[in-house]
Amino acid sequence: MRVLVVGGGGREHALCWKLARSPMLSKLWCAPGNPGTAMCAENVAIDTLDIAGLVAFARDNAIDLVLPGGEPPLVAGIADAMDAAGIACCGPSTAAAQLEGSKTFTKEICDAAKIPTASWRRFTDARAARDHVRQQGAPIVIKADGLAAGKGVVVAASVAEAEAAIGDFMEAGTLGASGRTLVIEECLTGPEISLFALCDGVSAVFLGAAQDHKRVGDGDIGPNTGGMGAYSPPPMFDRAMAASAMDVFIRPTLAEMNRRGTPFRGILFAGLMLTPTGPKLIEFNVRFGDPECQVLMLRLKSDLLGALVAACDGELAAFDLRWDDAPAVGVVMAARGYPGVHVRDTAIDLGDAETVSGVQIFHAGTALKDGALVNSGGRVLTVCAQANDIRLARETAYTAVDAIHWPDGFCRRDIGWRALA
Ligand code: AMP
Ligand code: GLY
Repeated sequence: MRVLVVGGGGREHALCWKLARSPMLSKLWCAPGNPGTAMCAENVAIDTLDIAGLVAFARDNAIDLVLPGGEPPLVAGIADAMDAAGIACCGPSTAAAQLEGSKTFTKEICDAAKIPTASWRRFTDARAARDHVRQQGAPIVIKADGLAAGKGVVVAASVAEAEAAIGDFMEAGTLGASGRTLVIEECLTGPEISLFALCDGVSAVFLGAAQDHKRVGDGDIGPNTGGMGAYSPPPMFDRAMAASAMDVFIRPTLAEMNRRGTPFRGILFAGLMLTPTGPKLIEFNVRFGDPECQVLMLRLKSDLLGALVAACDGELAAFDLRWDDAPAVGVVMAARGYPGVHVRDTAIDLGDAETVSGVQIFHAGTALKDGALVNSGGRVLTVCAQANDIRLARETAYTAVDAIHWPDGFCRRDIGWRALA
């Protein structure tokens, strides 16, 4: 099969790395890719949002299957456009991608399908939102309805902080149209888990669970990021809990999406909080997580391509995936300044890091300049390791991190701390 992966982050490198091992694969492309994907796929310089360009490339190159890595092309309609061109695309339609594109939409699905989630209300008027916050008190969570690249959620510890967020989102328009409608919800507590399911519109199979580390600093402090590291499997979310979560969160969502005439095909990512009263849905995403994908691809024993084809063909009902029990840990190395303004074009020397046994390094914001590796983005590498236990996997990942010479990079030193606590 001829396959096109869309994206250029660590997630897409991991997807290409795994797909390249498939006996079903004849040729793999990645648009736009990065120096890491170039090692297992052919990079093509097409922007992830150039839907027409991607469709034309897929048609001209007789692509059998397209796998979009991130949500921007999905929300922009890549699956609909590929469908129209008769090319299989393992991702949701624009209508189904609303599960990530709109918080209100997700909350309505939760209510209709009786999915456990924080109690909520929708506001389009700042005064009404402020009145509600004063009435409810703090802590309380303020969310912009639309996509906001991780900047649309404020967990407000005080009413004043909540009111400031309402002012920023609704009146100052700091997030543009995304923040004109708000969801204000109950503040939940507990560890967070990322649950993944591969869906064919009707059926779903478990695609692994992992724990991300969203804050930039050790001990989960500092600003939110795209994710600074992940590990799998999370010991606080065992197989039985995962099986139950498939029935409580994923299958009712698929049924409700079907009932609405917008079936969900692709990867459904449930962000769950394990609260004292059980798991609750924090959000849905319509794609793999990054860096969760990187550690899950190390643990997946089955052929990914076969599973993606089954999802596109509506044949997941009788499908199962096999996993390696050995845990995997992924440490994100980021450029100094990230998640704020960060350095660029700084030299990276991977040294002997890739020769450490059990280690796999995935590229994200890297580039080649005059043949030398430099950083081009904020999150730059995911240094992953797999071993017989989580402690060893983590030690191995940090051994590789320490073999990398990159004075302008940094990472968290405590990835996986909850599993070891
Ligand atoms: P989201 O963009 O919806 O994933 O939210 C970003 C982060 O905000 C989540 O990962 C949680 O840590 C936090 N968060 C979101 N909703 C809630 C909630 N209802 N209660 C507590 N924390 C929340
Ligand atoms: N790591 C979380 C995400 O990809 O949204």
